[in-house]
Amino acid sequence: MDYMKRYEDIIKMQLDRIEKMKKDTDFVDYQALDKIVIGIIGGDGIGPAITEHAHKVLRTLLADQVATGKVEFKVIEGCTIENRAAAGKAIPDDVLAEIKTCNVLLKGPTTTPRKGDKWANVESANVAMRKELDLFANVRPVKIPEKGIDWTFFRENTECLYAMGSQGVTIEDDLAVDFRVITTQGTERIARMAFDYAKANGKDRVTIVTKANVVKTTDGKFLDVCKKVAEEYPEIETDDWYIDIMTAKLVDEKRRGQFQVMILPNLYGDILTDEAAEFQGGVGTAGSANLGKHYAMFEAIHGSAPRMVQEGRDKYADPCSVIRAGAMLLSHIGYQEQADKLFAAIEECTVKEKKLRITGREDGATGAQFADYILSKI
Ligand code: IPM
Ligand code: MG
Repeated sequence: MDYMKRYEDIIKMQLDRIEKMKKDTDFVDYQALDKIVIGIIGGDGIGPAITEHAHKVLRTLLADQVATGKVEFKVIEGCTIENRAAAGKAIPDDVLAEIKTCNVLLKGPTTTPRKGDKWANVESANVAMRKELDLFANVRPVKIPEKGIDWTFFRENTECLYAMGSQGVTIEDDLAVDFRVITTQGTERIARMAFDYAKANGKDRVTIVTKANVVKTTDGKFLDVCKKVAEEYPEIETDDWYIDIMTAKLVDEKRRGQFQVMILPNLYGDILTDEAAEFQGGVGTAGSANLGKHYAMFEAIHGSAPRMVQEGRDKYADPCSVIRAGAMLLSHIGYQEQADKLFAAIEECTVKEKKLRITGREDGATGAQFADYILSKI
């Protein structure tokens, strides 16, 4: 293999991407569209079951909009690991074409093949969808009021080690090289989104997280660009932390309540948001927004739990994370009132009243029962 040529191709691809980002300035205004098409993607494992419950909740909340034709739901089949492995692609072409006819998507978990398992080692469907739809911002809120925690993570979602994660090179068997990509434009847009969010939501502090003391070129750029964007927001205090000590500080009860909004490159954001979600009761409780200028995708941050399906327990899987992702979707496309009702109902059922409990087994409620319980509070 010609390694230099490979390197040249990669650089060229990224330079092309930068040109696209430079031209792509405006965000879609969902309410200005004639019709908002919401795609529902079941995914793998427990995905189809829990996503169906979330779909039902959204259908109920948007019944009027569906009746007038302002909103249409489209169920997208086929984004399964079997089809992806058979096509040898992270997302089969027909499924991707279907996805692109939607404006926003609600997605169940999709199995990510790993080296050595029975599936072809195709790229993760999540990662591919984020790249294909240019969903550059992964917004992950974690709130635990009684512990004084109210964090919103803005994880960059298209660059870092993920940009070329499936295109590293092995050289003469002994040398493995991956490529880490950080761009000015890619960093600016996530930083601006985080600062705009802070400003609009009365947050007075934004924290930039990198390892710029060691990873000098790429993290150095990320930090510099974020600081430059920060200058446009003088009313907001900006500080920067290294990812290692940041990971420790999230456990520090005296310190962690001070953090509000965090901006991170992709991989650090991946890791830190799992840690953060754990304080809130685990990744199963967190929803996640993947936002771009033209599309947005909302998903649960947990995996597809194939073991639950093998043991016939998928009907007992907890649909709350994907229902919460559905509430984030409603808010994003301009149905704030419906979103607020849904958030309040989820809170009522999972934190306050707790009349039903999900255990993942026969001794607990089914996902369908739980979804109906949430609907009964709306
Ligand atoms: C997440 C997940 C994905 C990621 C996996 C499934 C590829 O961990 O959404 O955080 O690493 O981004
Ligand atoms: Mg993750």
